[in-house]
Amino acid sequence: MYIVISGLVKKYGENIVFDGFDAKIEKNRTTFIMGPSGCGKTTLINILMGITTPDGGTISGVPALKSAVFQEDRLCESFSAISNVRLVCDKKIKNDTIIEHLKKIGLGDGLTKPVAEFSGGMKRRVAIVRAVLARSEILFLDEPFKGLDTETKKTAMEYLKENTKGKTVVIVTHDIEEVKALEGDLITL
Ligand SMILES: Nc1ncnc2c1ncn2[C@@H]1O[C@H](COP(=O)(O)OP(=O)(O)O)[C@@H](O)[C@H]1O
Ligand SMILES: [Mg+2]
Repeated sequence: MYIVISGLVKKYGENIVFDGFDAKIEKNRTTFIMGPSGCGKTTLINILMGITTPDGGTISGVPALKSAVFQEDRLCESFSAISNVRLVCDKKIKNDTIIEHLKKIGLGDGLTKPVAEFSGGMKRRVAIVRAVLARSEILFLDEPFKGLDTETKKTAMEYLKENTKGKTVVIVTHDIEEVKALEGDLITL
């Protein structure tokens, strides 16, 4: 089972980002998208998510239920970490489960204070937990470990690996070590 991208075309004015791009993403696995800054990684996953409209080509096999870590955190700043996750997940998921996940990714303190008071790396991890606990069939993660220090990044990668087994995960990254650690497929742009 694959997500199939064929003949993708995307232009911004004179800037041709994709001109007949083809790729296959295997479902129920992790696939990394790598490439230099500005090559179109975010554009590609935004097209796959349906946020950006392509100028040509076809995409098939993208599941309907999607969750994401966007390039920017896009959290509700005045809401707590728990509330930010609560907003997107099934009512059946208990607050204790949300707290357990936040702890597993290394966030123990201040879970009820507004995330506006969190550091960048703390916010990033809230965004990761939100994407994992949201009801979804596919996760799109745009540089999910950006701004995390080595130790925190290791914890976040372990958390992600542990909690996305058998799921379709698409991750944009700059770091080949992430591809090795999470044992994913690789698409280079
Ligand atoms: N909304 C937009 N309007 C105009 N140009 C854009 C827009 N979004 C992205 N681009 C351009 O498309 C190219 C790919 O951008 P992007 O997908 O963000 O790259 P990456 O995520 O690989 O760094 C860049 O040249 C960028 O300037
Ligand atoms: Mg980007």
